[in-house]
Amino acid sequence: TAHTVLLATTKPFAKDAVAAIKTICEEHGLVFDKLEGYKDRAELYAAVASAEACIVRSDVCDEEFFSHAKKLKVLVRAGAGVDAIDLAAATRHGVCVQNTPGQNSNAVAELAFGMLLAHKRNYFDGNSGTEIRGSSLGLYGCGNVSRFMILAAQGFGMDIYAYDPFLTPDQITDLGAEPLYDVPSIFKCDVVSLHVPSTRETKHSIDEKLLRSMPKGGVLINTARKNIVQEADLLKALVDRPDLSYLADDKPDNTEEIKESLGEVRVKKQFLVTPKKMGAQTAEANSNSGIAAAKQVVEFFRDNLVKHQVNVNGKHF
Ligand code: 3PG
Repeated sequence: TAHTVLLATTKPFAKDAVAAIKTICEEHGLVFDKLEGYKDRAELYAAVASAEACIVRSDVCDEEFFSHAKKLKVLVRAGAGVDAIDLAAATRHGVCVQNTPGQNSNAVAELAFGMLLAHKRNYFDGNSGTEIRGSSLGLYGCGNVSRFMILAAQGFGMDIYAYDPFLTPDQITDLGAEPLYDVPSIFKCDVVSLHVPSTRETKHSIDEKLLRSMPKGGVLINTARKNIVQEADLLKALVDRPDLSYLADDKPDNTEEIKESLGEVRVKKQFLVTPKKMGAQTAEANSNSGIAAAKQVVEFFRDNLVKHQVNVNGKHF
């Protein structure tokens, strides 16, 4: 009998991406089912009960999810970050979890630069701003997003530095950045951009000390996860240092408190948050990651091929 693939997204993909996922599944004899914009966890549990494969975005997949997913063999996160998935629970339930690394990366890098440029030009209010040519860019994490950050930063004439504990200095040099050897060194740059996953090591790793160590006029861009930064520390640093700015795509839980503490004028100067996490919200990223996910499901069933599995070798984030 044909395997059923469920596309379950609280934040639906663009229509074209959904159509492409459906076509790929059906062309390969898989049954396509979808649950978009669900509000209730019970809807998700009911839908996943008959699925052998499931494609998700940032949807929370916890022990309860897996306990309802009795037939599930493969769960593909169409995107990079798997922090919403309980990987240990998936392993216990015998589910292979995969992601689609690199598919959203250009979209995220373009958002990071877009936020930076808009910020530097006062959100186009007509007032005189500053340029980024000649300033330094520090990248924390030098993976798929940072590769695009480097290409863009080269075009803008920035001095580019990067730290990544999983790469050798030579690999970082080859990518076009000057290697740094620890996190504090990154924070000496004029612009710091975070491109690390949310893991045990990175969670809450950006603290008051690092934030305060930034040079005058420092800008921290966070298009990664909000929990990389210690939010209470962020509030203190922004209040005490009117020259610092935080531009983020995954808004901190204490956003309202930060806004109240800074007041309207300083919010505009120092604090930009998107209303909804939108780094991967482009037509291209939706199609890239959705199609990659569908192809991985096809390969899993048709070819017994496992790509980008994230719950192997005890590598549980
Ligand atoms: C990712 O991890 O790939 C991005 O954060 C995108 O997440 P989303 O699919 O929830 O937009």
